[in-house]
Amino acid sequence: MSKLILPGLIDPHVHLRDPGQTEKEDFYTGTLAALAGGYTTVIDMPNNKIPIANLKLLEEKILIAKEKIVCDVGFYFGSMGDNLEEFPKVINKVLGLKLYLNETTGNYLIDKNKLRQIFKSWTQSMSLRSNKLYEQKPILLHAEGKAIEYVVKLVSKLGTKVHFCHISTQGDLELIVQAKDEGLPVTCGVTPHHLFLTEDDVKTLGPFGKMKPKLAGRKDVDFLWRNLKAIDVIESDHAPHAIEEKTGKFQIPYGVPGLETTLPLLLTAASENRLSIDDIIRLCFENPAKIFNIPLSNDSNHRSYIEVDPLAKYEIDNKKLFTKCSWSPFNGWKVKGKVEKVYIRNQKVFENNNILTPKGWGKIIHQNK
Ligand code: DOR
Ligand code: ZN
Repeated sequence: MSKLILPGLIDPHVHLRDPGQTEKEDFYTGTLAALAGGYTTVIDMPNNKIPIANLKLLEEKILIAKEKIVCDVGFYFGSMGDNLEEFPKVINKVLGLKLYLNETTGNYLIDKNKLRQIFKSWTQSMSLRSNKLYEQKPILLHAEGKAIEYVVKLVSKLGTKVHFCHISTQGDLELIVQAKDEGLPVTCGVTPHHLFLTEDDVKTLGPFGKMKPKLAGRKDVDFLWRNLKAIDVIESDHAPHAIEEKTGKFQIPYGVPGLETTLPLLLTAASENRLSIDDIIRLCFENPAKIFNIPLSNDSNHRSYIEVDPLAKYEIDNKKLFTKCSWSPFNGWKVKGKVEKVYIRNQKVFENNNILTPKGWGKIIHQNK
């Protein structure tokens, strides 16, 4: 009955949908799903119904979050290249800037020609706001194939710190490894669905297996697993959509939820020696903390950690999820490894599927030192 103590995990890529699409998720259900999945910190993407692309929208979002969150939450800012004057106003309130170079849910595609100016303005806003040189806040990119090559070229000229989200293919990971070998400040994340599912699963999952980037082939998935060392972060890309939307007749939105299933899937893989517990800590805690400058307490009285039973077996069940969308592409999967207790700043906030803390208990993360 040996329990495993892990640091509270950090998911640097979630879409909590609040405000604007709270029929899919909201700050309470999303952060509760985070706790149930062993995460004590998440960072929320800006592609809300009205994209978070100015200070006013960001401040409104933070106020809403403050009332509802039950784990710690940080935010990214969004841009389509027409809001550069907002960067210095928001730089102290966000942990990075998210840009979309390929199609996804919503309509946030950026004209590549605007990229250089966006990169320059982002870097400038960091130096404007601080006379101390603090850690650079990265630009996160949804980029695939040629778009990665384009960004890498830009990084080699400007030196901007970038993070490539949800890498899913051998070719894309190879481009990133090459950039790293050249000493460029690039990092990348991979999602659990791109590690545990392949394009073949779309046949059975239908719309519940549709996300961007799409599921890849076995060869790509095997390549990701063989090259875990080249991957910096596992990010859930928790992207809940209502069942009615996924099964509807209209344009079906891309995205799958992931907060509650990522750690059990990884612990199961660890029990099969496909990765180590140290890998999980590196990919889901140490590297996200470093890359996104999450302040961690050195004080043992304020530590966030989780208690896991690595031997507990259970079946992922749509009916037992906390996410408001109430489904998972992993429904019915048998996993080994269960989150039993979650502590934030040494206070027990979640135990055996029960929330122990009131709404609004989580903290907003502003890293501005
Ligand atoms: O499938 C996806 N859905 N990929 C993304 O990058 C965005 C997300 C969403 O917001 O639904
Ligand atoms: Zn995403």
